[in-house]
Amino acid sequence: MLPRMDRPIHNESPFGRQEAGSDPFALFETWFAAAREADPNNAAVMTLATAADNRPSARMVLLKEHGETGFVFYTNYQSRKARELETNPQAALTFWFPTQERQIRIEGRIEKNSSETSDAYFAARDRNSQLAAWASAQSSEIDEPVTLDEARKKFGEEKIPRPCSWGGLRLIPERFEF
Ligand SMILES: Cc1cc2nc3c(=O)[nH]c(=O)nc-3n(C[C@H](O)[C@H](O)[C@H](O)COP(=O)(O)O)c2cc1C
Repeated sequence: MLPRMDRPIHNESPFGRQEAGSDPFALFETWFAAAREADPNNAAVMTLATAADNRPSARMVLLKEHGETGFVFYTNYQSRKARELETNPQAALTFWFPTQERQIRIEGRIEKNSSETSDAYFAARDRNSQLAAWASAQSSEIDEPVTLDEARKKFGEEKIPRPCSWGGLRLIPERFEF
């Protein structure tokens, strides 16, 4: 079932009015595609807001996958955001596409990716990004956080496994505003 629309769709930009109709996922796709064309480096940057213990916090993350099954970013599961989401899985995303003067707000519940999905995404990343995930992992797999150089030495030429403290979080939308 599609999530309900929070408000009638409005778009105050000089580019005109656009209707989400009953399919906010399709409108997201249209707006995101236009933003990516205008600014390929920044279109996927979004604010993630969390609120544990009545204390909101927000930070930027990168949208890596999206569709009707949700909006996915990757992170360290021991980070503040991930710990806050364990306390309260309700979260909000905000996109800003300045070229089109458009904002999209999405609210919903966050779930962890399956380990198979995170493994597949990790395996497809370049080696430096894989090492960076190890360098940022402060997990039980390693006693102390390692530097990039230490991670490089640790794995040498071997295949780099996904740190189990690193993976995807998926926001399942309940509300959109365009
Ligand atoms: C443009 C941009 C993109 C970012 N993307 C991510 C991301 O995809 N995942 C992530 O964990 N942190 C990302 N960060 C870093 C976060 O904003 C944040 O500083 C870090 O994850 C720690 O947040 P936390 O203490 O709330 O967990 C990004 C920062 C910037 C400026």
